[in-house]
Amino acid sequence: MASKSHQFNSLFLVILCLSAIGLSTARSKSGGSGGIAIYWGQNGNEGTLEATCATGKFPYVNVAFLNVFGNGSTPSLNLAGHCDPASGGCVTLSSQIRSCQKQGVKLMLAIGGGIGTYSLSSKLDAHNVSLYLWNAFLGGKSPSVFRPLGDASLDGIDFDIESGSSQFYDDLVRFLKSYRGGRKVYVTGAPQCPFPDRLMGSALNTGLFDYVWIQFYNNPPCQYTPGNTANLINSWNLWTRSIRAKKIFLGLPAATQAAGSGFIPADVLTSQILPIIRKSPKYGGVMLWSKFWDDQSGYSSSIVSSL
Ligand SMILES: *[C@@H]1O[C@H](CO)[C@@H](O)[C@H](O)[C@H]1NC(C)=O
Ligand SMILES: *[C@@H]1O[C@H](CO)[C@@H](O)[C@H](O)[C@H]1NC(C)=O
Repeated sequence: MASKSHQFNSLFLVILCLSAIGLSTARSKSGGSGGIAIYWGQNGNEGTLEATCATGKFPYVNVAFLNVFGNGSTPSLNLAGHCDPASGGCVTLSSQIRSCQKQGVKLMLAIGGGIGTYSLSSKLDAHNVSLYLWNAFLGGKSPSVFRPLGDASLDGIDFDIESGSSQFYDDLVRFLKSYRGGRKVYVTGAPQCPFPDRLMGSALNTGLFDYVWIQFYNNPPCQYTPGNTANLINSWNLWTRSIRAKKIFLGLPAATQAAGSGFIPADVLTSQILPIIRKSPKYGGVMLWSKFWDDQSGYSSSIVSSL
């Protein structure tokens, strides 16, 4: 009798284990839909663009930043210690861009950023800037426009507008989306989580964005704070039901030092947040700032199998 009940218990345990394995397989399958977008370019000690793509962890890389443009200025790209765009020192990135694209990685030029001088003064100015972006970084290739990253074409433009005015960015998005050079121009953006974004709201309202990675950091009312996931999840729900975009991503600092606030420990993200937000049909994955900080923390490696 004792041994029979022992047998029964063992069988029961085996069944329990099998169903747990079944459940976890199903869970990792349903979690396989997300990817990581990462910012590269603002620290010379974060490895090359090619090495970033070769990790296989990042289907989207934003090359940051074109931090001077518009209002009659001569546009200027800043890639920190990687290379000097102005003197032609970054044209060798073309072979790396092609290597990334061969692996299926989408590369966007990030415009704006936290430190820069940029604004659009009119619809005409938006048109002028769109032509510059098209000819200098995308499929345009006008012989009179210098291409800082050489002849390879990036896949699109990422809007990270954090200063200046909100005006005419909707026009810039429409102009960019009107260009056809064999392949489509992706338009992506990184608004701050307070909704609607003060500077990017009207651009987002065009409904033309492919991917939107919302910065759920440096904004306490809509980000994670220790012990509280509700503010972030409420904000996520508001964004996903309010804006038209193909995919929406949870933007996060890759390390505690990568932002003033809003870092989410990997175990909290994978156990308490991802299982909820990935139920959204627009869920695309996670965006991380930045490759440099991710190298320090190993954050992407801790979350990549849970997306
Ligand atoms: C148009 O854009 C170029 C950069 O391509 C810039 O140098 C020029 O000043 C702009 N023109 C006007 C009128 O803003
Ligand atoms: C454009 O630049 C002028 C001066 O150079 C400045 O007064 C004006 O505010 C700028 N416009 C925008 C929209 O930034």
